[in-house]
Amino acid sequence: MTLAPAYGAESPIAELLEPEDLLPIAERRLVGNYRQASFVLERGKGCELWDTEGRRYLDFCAGVAVCSLGHAHPRLVAAIAEQAARLMHVSNYFYNAENARLADELCKKSGMDRAFFCNSGAEANEAMLKLARRFFFTRGEPDRYRVIAFDNAFHGRTLGAVALTGTPKYREGFGPPLAGVTHVPYGDLDAVKAAMGPDVAAIFVEPVQGEGGVIPPPKGFLPGLRSLCDAHGALLCLDEVQTGIGRTGTFLGSEHDGVEGDAIALAKGLGGGFPIGALLIKERLNSALTPGTHGSTFGGNPLASRAARTVLAVLDEEKLMEGAVTKGQRLAEGLAALAKEHPALCVGQRGRGLLQGLTLAQGVDTRAVLGRARAHGLLLTVAGATTLRYTPPLVVSEAEIDEAIAITGRVLAEMKP
Ligand SMILES: Cc1ncc(COP(=O)(O)O)c(C=O)c1O
Repeated sequence: MTLAPAYGAESPIAELLEPEDLLPIAERRLVGNYRQASFVLERGKGCELWDTEGRRYLDFCAGVAVCSLGHAHPRLVAAIAEQAARLMHVSNYFYNAENARLADELCKKSGMDRAFFCNSGAEANEAMLKLARRFFFTRGEPDRYRVIAFDNAFHGRTLGAVALTGTPKYREGFGPPLAGVTHVPYGDLDAVKAAMGPDVAAIFVEPVQGEGGVIPPPKGFLPGLRSLCDAHGALLCLDEVQTGIGRTGTFLGSEHDGVEGDAIALAKGLGGGFPIGALLIKERLNSALTPGTHGSTFGGNPLASRAARTVLAVLDEEKLMEGAVTKGQRLAEGLAALAKEHPALCVGQRGRGLLQGLTLAQGVDTRAVLGRARAHGLLLTVAGATTLRYTPPLVVSEAEIDEAIAITGRVLAEMKP
């Protein structure tokens, strides 16, 4: 079955872009920096996606933990359409109503005081890094710029964010990395203590390492980082890009450990698929970024802000965080049972809420498992070298979770030697 293109037949390029042409065009025209699947997605509803051939997929990727309300959620669709017709962009020379409301709502939900808006997770982290360094600069400590970050951490792809990212391959070939970042093993408080010093401006940490392989911190690690920062006067910078906005069952992933950051980076789920990132800070840091020191043309525009406000409203109205706890538990139990059933293929399950991973044994071809899952109509991602990552939309149903577990079971059974 082929579906009509989404644009009108009156489009002068419509005849060039018939569904069967799209895959070769995409392969030829897009920069080859991704390893993309060999189908072209065209529409979605809830947790389901359909490609241009009419094949249906159960979406446990959700745009990499982004589409928190699933696809084409009627509230989000209506809000974006209404806002687009009212006011889309004005620049940050002017306040806009949606952005002021969003800043207030985010601060109230997170316990923070002020918000800066941008368009992605990398940008939010970049802003957080600049803020940390400039905070000490403005306090007369210009040499206090070192940052502690963690092995296997992922903070994004800009040059600043890759400097924080704990996997050297992401920095390779891009020239001298940003100076002043010390990487230590995630979860190793003694290593952090040893790396700490009067020149440390901040510790950057993910409350659960996402891209690194869905790795929750050991008990006491995040509180330990908080205490170390307090003792040394350094800032605790939480990268909640993947863990925030209800993904782990609480609004912020760090709530599981009862820890408050001095600054928090958000993106992914915040816009439910509409690009938006945010940096939330405590009041005392506000003096660091004075006019002209940082900015973003698109950041906080009315359209993105309205999308994010709608996500926050639906999160509460549909009790999606509560759902992430119970449905996350169901997913975790299902994956743990599969790991037990296939000990030669699986090491185990780990994660929090609806950020779950199934870690495969060394030697199992993780990408082959991913490919088979796709062939069976289940979209997943790989985190770290060996972990299948499950990040369904927060609106996922129990039946869909059971379906994802069943498909994974079928795939593992096929992988048996
Ligand atoms: C924890 C974390 N930080 C930052 C990023 C980068 O976000 P973006 O791709 O929106 O720049 C990601 C993306 O996966 C992430 O998981």
